[in-house]
Amino acid sequence: MPADQVPLTARRAGRLAGRARVPGDKSISIRALILGALTVGETRVSGLLEGDDVLNTAQTLRALGAVIERNGGGAWHIRGVGVAGFAEPRAALDFGNSGTGCRLMLGAVAGCPITATFDGDASLRRRPMRRILDPLERIGARTLDSADGRLPLTLAGARDPIPIVFESAVPSAQLKSAALIAGLSAPGETVVIEGEATRDHTEKMLSHFGAELRIEPQGAQGRRIALAGQPELVPQPIVVPTDPSSAAFPLVAALITPGSDVILDGVMMNPLRAGLIATLVEMGASIERLDMRKEGGEDVADLRVRAGALRGVEVPAARAPSMIDEYPVLAVAAAFAEGTTVMRGLKELRVKESDRLAATAALLRANGIAVDIEGDDLIVRGNGRALGGGLVATHMDHRIAMSALVMGLASERPVKIDDGSFIATSFPRFVELMRSLGADLVG
Ligand code: S3P
Repeated sequence: MPADQVPLTARRAGRLAGRARVPGDKSISIRALILGALTVGETRVSGLLEGDDVLNTAQTLRALGAVIERNGGGAWHIRGVGVAGFAEPRAALDFGNSGTGCRLMLGAVAGCPITATFDGDASLRRRPMRRILDPLERIGARTLDSADGRLPLTLAGARDPIPIVFESAVPSAQLKSAALIAGLSAPGETVVIEGEATRDHTEKMLSHFGAELRIEPQGAQGRRIALAGQPELVPQPIVVPTDPSSAAFPLVAALITPGSDVILDGVMMNPLRAGLIATLVEMGASIERLDMRKEGGEDVADLRVRAGALRGVEVPAARAPSMIDEYPVLAVAAAFAEGTTVMRGLKELRVKESDRLAATAALLRANGIAVDIEGDDLIVRGNGRALGGGLVATHMDHRIAMSALVMGLASERPVKIDDGSFIATSFPRFVELMRSLGADLVG
């Protein structure tokens, strides 16, 4: 095992109890930096997630001429360069592990008359970028150098960007966002059509900064988003709400660890991110919404979560976009449920930080749970308990790491992971937060 890997072990201890607030939303934090950098003037952000994915994105924006300052306690200032105002970077832009940072920045650079090289870690180098490059090339950007649409790649931004109508073949907020951000530089109207609605943080933040967008329903589940190009984005303060994808870990941990009673403060309840909670409630989970309110333009609630029996359910494919990052931890909840849980339509999980479909199945199997992958479906046969005792390979994937540790808190034997270092991409201080609730996590 290389020296910079951080093995961790989770052991069954007592109940989890207390109150905690998870860090800021990763999707919104990355968008705040990028869109803030495209305004003219100073954007103040509070509650920014200070995880590695966000910090790497900040670093690439600095290399392109934006001024980004950290003032402590999640307060950041961004001095933007305006739409299409980036300067050519001197070195390759390194996005580390961050697919969102990289893909949204491909969109931002595509609308700028500069050339930049995009790179990342071994996990990001394996992930598909062709799906993003297709619409960006139609807008006028050119891919100069890339091995089969993967990083490292060099993109020459469009000198005269063209507004396009782009119908997205995959339900991906990153793809939608890259096309919209590139479309900011084009005259006229850029239209993105998505067959299934995905997280709408880019649209909301663009409106917040004064861009004109028309959003209409498209078919049963989709949306048509029309953006008026070449707006002057005006800085506005941004308050980043907490990340529901991070809240998912203490939430499931409390549900499966007997006797637990935990309150998670200010969890973002954006309906396009709320599929996990809907599914857990169908499974019989006790999740009470206290004090519904608005933070940073989003509905948030304090969630009181109490442990109790769960039952297996069928999760429809149509729900996937609203909980795409939550399947590994849902699979852990399913392992502790009575009966079979079938999660349908998980094709996109194969192209996350790891092949998350395979990694989730392996995580459960290593801990004594019967699980099958049939096509794009994941089938977990729960019987209310897990043996544990496994060593889980995390494949540079923060969500596999945290899911495995959650499993260990309620398994009969400890669960080990080979490397917890990637947890810092999205959830710095995860171990401390879980310990504050009573979890037994050791290095
Ligand atoms: C994200 C979109 C999703 C999600 C990722 C964050 C975003 O990816 O998995 O963690 O911020 O737009 P896809 O767009 O590839 O589905």
